[in-house]
Amino acid sequence: MGRTIGIVGTGHFAGYLVQGLMRAESPPDIVVSPRNADKAGELAARFGVGIAADNQAVIDTADVVILATRPALGTTAIDGLTFRPDQIAFTMVAGMTLAAFQSVVAPARAHRAIAHAGVSIGASPVFLYPDAPELHTLFSAWGPVEASPDEAAFEVATVFPVFYAALYRIIEESARWGAAQGLEPAAARDLATVSMKATALMAEADRDRPLAEIIDSLATKGGMTERMIAVLEGRGAIEAWSESMEVVLRRVRGDMEA
Ligand SMILES: NC(=O)c1ccc[n+]([C@@H]2O[C@H](COP(=O)([O-])OP(=O)(O)OC[C@H]3O[C@@H](n4cnc5c(N)ncnc54)[C@H](OP(=O)(O)O)[C@@H]3O)[C@@H](O)[C@H]2O)c1
Repeated sequence: MGRTIGIVGTGHFAGYLVQGLMRAESPPDIVVSPRNADKAGELAARFGVGIAADNQAVIDTADVVILATRPALGTTAIDGLTFRPDQIAFTMVAGMTLAAFQSVVAPARAHRAIAHAGVSIGASPVFLYPDAPELHTLFSAWGPVEASPDEAAFEVATVFPVFYAALYRIIEESARWGAAQGLEPAAARDLATVSMKATALMAEADRDRPLAEIIDSLATKGGMTERMIAVLEGRGAIEAWSESMEVVLRRVRGDMEA
């Protein structure tokens, strides 16, 4: 298949997606929808993407179509438009079921994908349902690509881009606390950020080792790490974190009261 990527929904996320694709060894041609002329113009000037005349023109030009509009819009940006059987279409819209998307993009092949802003630096998880092996190499410009065997598990994965964004709040709180204790604010931020990065890199490097074992090895009996975790657990902070992920999952599944 050809390698022209078309994006419908030229907003913040589209900007990250384009920046990430440009990291590929051989970047694809990209065309974006015209709405949000400022963003489309910025992407054209910075990365040389094409700006289509309308959403149908994005689809007509593209081999792979990505829908990146907001969840509240549903499929309205592409309703009634014409797709081809040789196309692959991805919805990156949280909560949009494969069946709902497939009914709009037929006869193209429908997939769901999730990622987060880290695609811009090749550091996001890229999670697909169903799998599209022919696109792994291209999508790996966004980060490690994995596929889910079923849609229910895929929906659980859609919580993790939100988890990624919420972690900034932990970094901010830790940096704020450090500065309030007398650290230079920039040093406090660096300490929080670099420590968070080291935790993630070590967890990844030791991916076959149970996390409970890593925690045990770090939180020695009577030591300071054990004490910090005990305070967090005692105040319900760890439980609250799981509860917050549960709330996001309920939202993904359509419960807007959650
Ligand atoms: N931002 C992130 O880091 C991130 C991360 C992961 C996933 N996502 C997902 O990506 C999607 C977009 O999020 P976002 O933050 O990029 O939102 P956004 O900045 O609002 O971008 C959406 C864009 O779609 C445009 N749009 C609205 N109606 C359209 C139509 N009928 N045809 C074509 N374009 C239309 C909007 O234009 P107007 O502004 O003129 O309405 C806007 O430019 C969401 O589903 C979100 O869940 C975002």
